[in-house]
Amino acid sequence: MSIRKLYNQREINSRVKELSKELYSVYKKEEVVFICTLKGAVFFACDLLKNYKGEARLEFLRVSSYKGKTSTGKIELNLSISKENIEGKNVVIIEDIVDTGNTLKFLKGYINDMNPKTLKICTLLDKKSRREVEIDADYCGFEIDDLFVIGYGLDYNQKYRNLPYIGVIE
Ligand code: IMP
Ligand code: MG
Repeated sequence: MSIRKLYNQREINSRVKELSKELYSVYKKEEVVFICTLKGAVFFACDLLKNYKGEARLEFLRVSSYKGKTSTGKIELNLSISKENIEGKNVVIIEDIVDTGNTLKFLKGYINDMNPKTLKICTLLDKKSRREVEIDADYCGFEIDDLFVIGYGLDYNQKYRNLPYIGVIE
């Protein structure tokens, strides 16, 4: 098995900085509750927040849907969030990757039920061609083809999250 580099550390850093700036230009002085989805988005969320100049809170959610390389389509909530952290707030969900869209659809519904003031989605990667449900991220790092990617938080059966770059298994 070999790994082909798709985006190196420099490319990731510079795109993440751009996204932080873009988000700051939207919220400026208003506080934002960033929700990092575990485990995949954790590297991305750390870098995004370290570069974010505004007022920020950080919460975590854990959902799972994948077994190996195929999405099961069935979403399980493994770590929840309390309504008092969301109600009336500007919320940004930080995702690692949008694939079929099932996870995002579930997450959006779950958070919207807690009546945030605003809700936006920021994903590092987007596989638009794989979409099964009509849903889109508001902010996206990189749009990619139908490839299974690993590294920078993304896993294949819980492995390779610690790679500092984003790669494709070949
Ligand atoms: P969806 O519900 O099909 O959109 O799947 C989204 C979730 O599946 C993501 O949050 C990832 O955790 C996982 N996933 C989808 N594609 C990949 C991939 O290429 N590599 C690693 N994980 C992936
Ligand atoms: Mg995920």
